[in-house]
Amino acid sequence: MGELMVNLGERSYMIVIGHNMLDTIGEQINPDRYSPKTALVTNPTVYRLYGSKVKDSLQKAGFEVTEVIIPDGEEYKDFAWAYYILSRMLSAGLDRKSVVFALGGGVVGDITGFAASVYMRGIDYVQIPTTLLSQVDSSVGGKTGVNHPLGKNMIGTFYQPVLVWIDVDTLKTLPHREFLAGMAEVIKYGVIWDREFFYFLKRNREKILSQEPDVLEQMIKRCCEIKAEVVSRDEREAGLRAILNYGHTIGHAIETLTGYTRYLHGEAVSMGMLLEAELARLEGLLSKEEVEELRELLQGYGMPVAPENRLSSEEMLKAMQIDKKAVAGKMRFVLPEKIGNVRITSEITNNNILKVLDKLQSF
Ligand code: NAD
Ligand code: GLY
Repeated sequence: MGELMVNLGERSYMIVIGHNMLDTIGEQINPDRYSPKTALVTNPTVYRLYGSKVKDSLQKAGFEVTEVIIPDGEEYKDFAWAYYILSRMLSAGLDRKSVVFALGGGVVGDITGFAASVYMRGIDYVQIPTTLLSQVDSSVGGKTGVNHPLGKNMIGTFYQPVLVWIDVDTLKTLPHREFLAGMAEVIKYGVIWDREFFYFLKRNREKILSQEPDVLEQMIKRCCEIKAEVVSRDEREAGLRAILNYGHTIGHAIETLTGYTRYLHGEAVSMGMLLEAELARLEGLLSKEEVEELRELLQGYGMPVAPENRLSSEEMLKAMQIDKKAVAGKMRFVLPEKIGNVRITSEITNNNILKVLDKLQSF
């Protein structure tokens, strides 16, 4: 079992990574600190697999658990379902000293964190992430939120959990495609921060793909360490934290143009990372060899590196200009200078962006 700390002063918290530990979550929560009434928020898919393990453990620890089940899907990460969660918490009598548990992927984690952040002006919550993406990314760092018809994740808060409890065994039931999509975010950490980790992913491909628990734990721990370090230095994305958006500027445009239905987020990020690496090459930052190494690693993990149908470069550019990462219409890019190191820049010309987007069809 591995443990690490997200250092944020009085809002610091532990991330614990291990296996076969879902049924011990109740023991981790100090009963003297919290009211007995708690809520367990999840969706039907995850509830069927892990709901009773977590609920039993919380009950054994003396908690009175209200189950709050929201439908499975990104389309339910909205204000109406956040309101539903809040209503269930109110009618169950949760108070200001209650703690709430988010059991599931990034959708459940984001909406539960959001509900916790506004319930009675903010109560504690615990993340129990069950997808690879949520274990290495969304459960750590306190970005909470819901979608709006005018944009994804447009409404939300920065609100840190009090504990992140990661049981890698939950990944055994995750659809393989979801696992691979999570690998895009894992590879991202290698490119933006840790060259050695990039090569660790290359060397251990077979073991990771066959989900050997020790290697998986090591891999997830390293991702959480990097995310914790970045978030500790820049919680509210005033600067450094934006490096976590590597691959996302172009990735989001691909998601927008394909209606958020054709590709999983991680798949779009995979394509975005390769194109942004190509952009870095065009800008004279990254070598051709390193772009190729990234392409090989992504493909080695079964990730797409180009969309199957033609996407208009002009439409892509437009989508990027209205993305929430753009400031005053100016796009910000995170570009690798070498594997393991990136820079943030707003100085890329539309001409160069279009040149790279035109390549999209030829990969
Ligand atoms: P998800 O939560 O939709 O989960 C993917 C699917 O896997 C769902 O159908 C879910 O029911 C199922 N599932 C979850 N755990 C399972 C398990 N162990 N076994 C079997 N099935 C399981 O998707 P996700 O990829 O985890 O998260 C995507 C969301 O995360 C998006 O809303 C995105 O905006 C958000 N996100 C947030 C942050 C952040 O910093 N807060 C970062 C990245 C992404
Ligand atoms: N997923 C990007 C961030 O947490 O900042």
